[in-house]
Amino acid sequence: MVTDESTTGVSRRNFLQAVGATSGAGVMFATMGAVGLAPTAAAQPRTESWIAPTKSDFTLTGRSAKKVVVVGAGPAGLASAYELQKAGYKVTVLEARHRPGGRTLTIRGGDSETDVNGVKQTARFDKNIYMNAGAGRIAQWMVTMDYLRELGVPYEVFTNANADAYLYNERTGATPGNPVRYRTAKADVFGYTSELLTYATDQGALDQKLTAADKENLRAFLRSWGSLKADGTYQGGDNRGYSVYPSAWNEHGTPLPGPGSVSEVLGSRMGMYFPFEINWEQSMLMFQPKGGMDVTYDYFVRAIGKQNVQFNSPVTGVENTPGGVKVTYTAHNGKARQVEADFAVVSAPAGLMRRWSTNWGPDIDAALGEFAVGAPAGKIGLQYRSRFWEDDHRIFGGITETDMDLAHVWYPSYGYGERKGLMVGYYNTGTNARTYGDMAPKQRELRAVEQGVKIHGEKYRTELESSFSIAWHKVPYIEGAWAYPNTQSSRFKQLQQGAGNVYFAGDWMSEISAWQHGAFWAARYAVQALHTRVMTS
Ligand code: FAD
Ligand code: ALA
Repeated sequence: MVTDESTTGVSRRNFLQAVGATSGAGVMFATMGAVGLAPTAAAQPRTESWIAPTKSDFTLTGRSAKKVVVVGAGPAGLASAYELQKAGYKVTVLEARHRPGGRTLTIRGGDSETDVNGVKQTARFDKNIYMNAGAGRIAQWMVTMDYLRELGVPYEVFTNANADAYLYNERTGATPGNPVRYRTAKADVFGYTSELLTYATDQGALDQKLTAADKENLRAFLRSWGSLKADGTYQGGDNRGYSVYPSAWNEHGTPLPGPGSVSEVLGSRMGMYFPFEINWEQSMLMFQPKGGMDVTYDYFVRAIGKQNVQFNSPVTGVENTPGGVKVTYTAHNGKARQVEADFAVVSAPAGLMRRWSTNWGPDIDAALGEFAVGAPAGKIGLQYRSRFWEDDHRIFGGITETDMDLAHVWYPSYGYGERKGLMVGYYNTGTNARTYGDMAPKQRELRAVEQGVKIHGEKYRTELESSFSIAWHKVPYIEGAWAYPNTQSSRFKQLQQGAGNVYFAGDWMSEISAWQHGAFWAARYAVQALHTRVMTS
């Protein structure tokens, strides 16, 4: 084990100060690792490319901590401020809106939102009922989980896939009131696919590809996967589910009618929904913070210090100065204010930053312009006086997929056992989101209910108590659900260098936009770039 004295006779601290004073941060971190002061790779998140700055980086090198203005109190801005402050930086966060979290907006009773056209809605949800209007789910591998745990945010399972939820493809033949359960659709698609592949195998169609042993293994798999009969045909089976489930003595259950023919099953196009469950971004299990996604950001603000986060303070200008940055914002009283700092981390949506007064030059403006602004997405939260989807449909969480303009319909993954609950009546994007977004809130509700009744029956209308809808392309200071960067573009790489004393963060600066994970990693990289600069200057 390395002791203080064994490092050339000087104390470990002095040795590191000497290294830090004359070399780059990378050399110092490596040296710290060698003498056992830096966190080990095993203690890091699942990558070696992030080493959080620490207070000792300053104390060990005799440097003084710098001041940083962070623009935006969404995930990227708050994570940047949090990581910087942990290392001793003085941070001030300027947020345009009245609350933290950005697109992780959670709507609760009493919350109001006014869109860019001045249309105001106030949620009339009961206590303990909420709608995640933006971000709703977190995959297990995401760094978001690490921040929940580090900050102590309570979390619970989010049911992203449920074999008892419905599929409803109106355009390919489903009739109103006749949605299909996932399990039934899967049994039929798997069944017929298995039958066809077994047939092809038996006919020798795969002989060029498979050995005799391969073919036997394939047949065995298909028999099980597709619930095939001994003769290799698919004729349904109990994987499809029951209309009356087995219960007491001699109550064997009533099988569902069907299956339809192979043409009907293929023609339903239901199989297209199945890859979702193993999609690397979406796969089960997933998680959500208890009480709403934005709870996470209350924890961030608390950790950063409420006095360091200013709401209702929209930034209008960011300028590099000879010694740092000057950030102009509109204060609560409507007056322009300026704050100076050594650096800025800006995390507002890229396209909106082009409206600011800046001196970072046309190249940076052009790079920011590569991020499309205004990708539409919408959601509606429907509060019901009863949880009929659980009582009558026996669906406890998960998502029903449709080919209607609703797209996705979410059942709540919280509040089980409560009397009331909230469903997300639509979660749509593209043209569908624009169509709903163009309607007045009441019209959105009427339309969403009209559509949802086809799947859930009249209670979907009669049990409704109130609704709240969001059109992300109309939310002030956001104006779009997400933007995808061209991560191969030279302009994207240019933004990674920052612009003078300004660094860029935001999910749009990551390889995985539209996820908090991307925003957090973009924040980490901006912080790392800034810190390396401080440690090497
Ligand atoms: P934002 O969250 O957009 O934060 C930017 C902040 O900058 C905002 O608070 C904004 O008000 C502020 N700002 C803008 N202009 C100014 C200004 N001039 N001055 C000061 N402040 C300003 N992620 C998941 O992890 N899981 C999901 O299930 C998920 N689902 C989603 C569903 C929807 C409908 C949407 C819209 C997003 C979803 N996301 C999801 C994505 C997630 O919300 C974003 O990736 C994340 O919020 C991005 O964080 P950010 O800090 O980069 O940007
Ligand atoms: N990440 C967003 C979602 O899961 C798009 O809905």
